[in-house]
Amino acid sequence: MDRKFARYTVTSALPYANGPIHIGHLAGVYVPADIYVRYLRMKDEDVIFIGGSDEHGVPITIKARAEGVSPQVIVDRYHELIKKSFEDFGISFDVYSRTSAPIHHETASEFFKKLYDEGKFVEKTTEQYYDEETKHFLADRYITGTCPHCGYEKAYGDQCENCGTSLSPLELINPKSALSGNVPVLKETKHWYLPLDRYEDWLKEWILKGHKDDWKTNVYGQVKSWLDHGLKPRAVTRDLDWGVKVPVKEAEGKVLYVWFDAPIGYISATKEWSENTGKDWKPYWKDKDTKLVHFIGKDNIVFHCIIFPVMLHTEGTYIVPDNVPANEFLNLENDKISTSRNWAVWLHEYLEEFPGKQDVLRYVLTANAPETKDNDFTWRDFQARNNNELLAIFGNFVNRTLVLTGKYFDGVVPEAGEPDGETRKVIEAMTGYPEKISASIERYRFREALNELMNLARLGNKYLTDMEPWKLIKTDEEKVKTILNVSLQIAANLSILSEPFLPFSAEKLRNMLNLPQMKWDEAGSAGILKAGHELNKPEFLFEKIEDAAIEAQIQKLMDTKKENEKETAVKPQKEEITYEDFMKMDIRTATILEAEKVPKTDKLIKLKIDTGIDQRTIVSGIAKYYNAEDIVGRKICVLVNLAPRKLRGIVSQGMILMAEDTEGKLVFVTPSEDIMNGSEVK
Ligand code: 2FM
Ligand code: ZN
Repeated sequence: MDRKFARYTVTSALPYANGPIHIGHLAGVYVPADIYVRYLRMKDEDVIFIGGSDEHGVPITIKARAEGVSPQVIVDRYHELIKKSFEDFGISFDVYSRTSAPIHHETASEFFKKLYDEGKFVEKTTEQYYDEETKHFLADRYITGTCPHCGYEKAYGDQCENCGTSLSPLELINPKSALSGNVPVLKETKHWYLPLDRYEDWLKEWILKGHKDDWKTNVYGQVKSWLDHGLKPRAVTRDLDWGVKVPVKEAEGKVLYVWFDAPIGYISATKEWSENTGKDWKPYWKDKDTKLVHFIGKDNIVFHCIIFPVMLHTEGTYIVPDNVPANEFLNLENDKISTSRNWAVWLHEYLEEFPGKQDVLRYVLTANAPETKDNDFTWRDFQARNNNELLAIFGNFVNRTLVLTGKYFDGVVPEAGEPDGETRKVIEAMTGYPEKISASIERYRFREALNELMNLARLGNKYLTDMEPWKLIKTDEEKVKTILNVSLQIAANLSILSEPFLPFSAEKLRNMLNLPQMKWDEAGSAGILKAGHELNKPEFLFEKIEDAAIEAQIQKLMDTKKENEKETAVKPQKEEITYEDFMKMDIRTATILEAEKVPKTDKLIKLKIDTGIDQRTIVSGIAKYYNAEDIVGRKICVLVNLAPRKLRGIVSQGMILMAEDTEGKLVFVTPSEDIMNGSEVK
């Protein structure tokens, strides 16, 4: 380690409690963070590992609305599910809290109040989109529209998930309320902004100068690009009713922006840990000798490298992160992981379907971690890595060593004699592994670290294969004693060094070797197991994964794909109506006589229609699909007895029948043969 720190505060992004944990979360955040803290604990460092559920924010309220329940019902459900699946998977949090906890509301409130009292915010009244029907301001994900950068039509008010650009609602083209689908209006509202622009120089000094060499290039690059483009003040309050209430009178009815309160959740969780353990939380956040590290995915970089550090810095009593080793994204079978499309491997399902195989998933996600670029998880790769690596190399080496020791020496560690040249080389190589693996872990290169661990197993496997003790036993038992002693020392080293990566298997291996849990610095020695030490019975560390298990998983994904295609193909049938209901509608064939675009609108065309009964005006939202001049003379169908409505000051008397596909594209419904205007459609 370059610098010796007194303690470590390691945080992992707080997952939104609106869905279960999937392999993308694990590979990006929780597995690397868990490896890091398990390693630090073995180094005898003072470390706390913080986790918790992010229970505010629009994704949660949207889900609650969709299910017709309160947001609390949603977060309770997912908080429990997430917490349990992390525990069962061996993510070794010191505390797993939640942002709906009272201690968090207090902590976040106080944090805001202090900055507010010190005049650190800028107050601004601006016009924001508002849904007049549901009476909601439409912040963040409450509004969707077309991304001005890439043209993606389902971009959110805070971000385009297609190109990753961070957006504000006013930038969206064709904005729509996510609550009602309505076109929103603009309405004035007051909010508090964190003036990030005032901290540009500090951020440049701290990150661009201070962390050029130790932050990952993907993280550094993103931060630099933000700083090069210049920062703007960011609103930290919202007109919502779910979240931490803004603790000032003039902000009644408003809550803190979820990205203001969520990272403070790390601090609240540390306070909860302090209450549970009786230890002081403050040094973990306030002592300059503490190394603060945030494990996150790449979509969280701006919040952890710019916004939260500015909050901590301007508050004045907190430290800022020493590193933010963000990962890129993991795809699944060549497609983006998506909660809404159910395109994921869910942790709680994996744990049920592959009982006792936590380490296989930990291994595959680390070996294939999206550390420097997006990566792909495939079930075939999962099977191959288990069968050809964990089982064929690690498991096979350990098993051969223990079985042979059982067979030749009754499971007692034999005394090593004078090593030959080959053996000496193997011992020397073995001695170097703890340092190699440490160096990679400390640079957040977990794939590389895991590969080194496997190289140690490879070393042992090759040593056994080259030395062929099963042949030598007939002629040179003394030499076999040395070979198995050295092989057992490699196995003992593996039991120590694999603990951060494969904690369940490390424990199994320790039990077989009859060893206690040891410290990292005890590894590297060829004298961990003393001659005469009794071993326990060998068991298999890993099992073969058969084709059938993999095919079942692939089938499950294919079923999901089919389901999704069905859903996107056609909307389900609406509820049943009677013939009388239908006959209430008076639909007639008609002809468009005149058409002109309504000024200052994107969508509307004003039409003069001959309905056979009369000539009337209808305003229709079809400008995106038809040019006014192209549609004069078209035969159409019109609902003529619809109550008149005023649109942009024009009274519209009826509705033109259009067919709409799932993408929202509209086409006229036209009689298939020439028929006089006014003919009834029934
Ligand atoms: O992106 C997310 O899933 C957020 N819930 C992460 C929050 S991290 C922290 F700031 F709490
Ligand atoms: Zn975009």
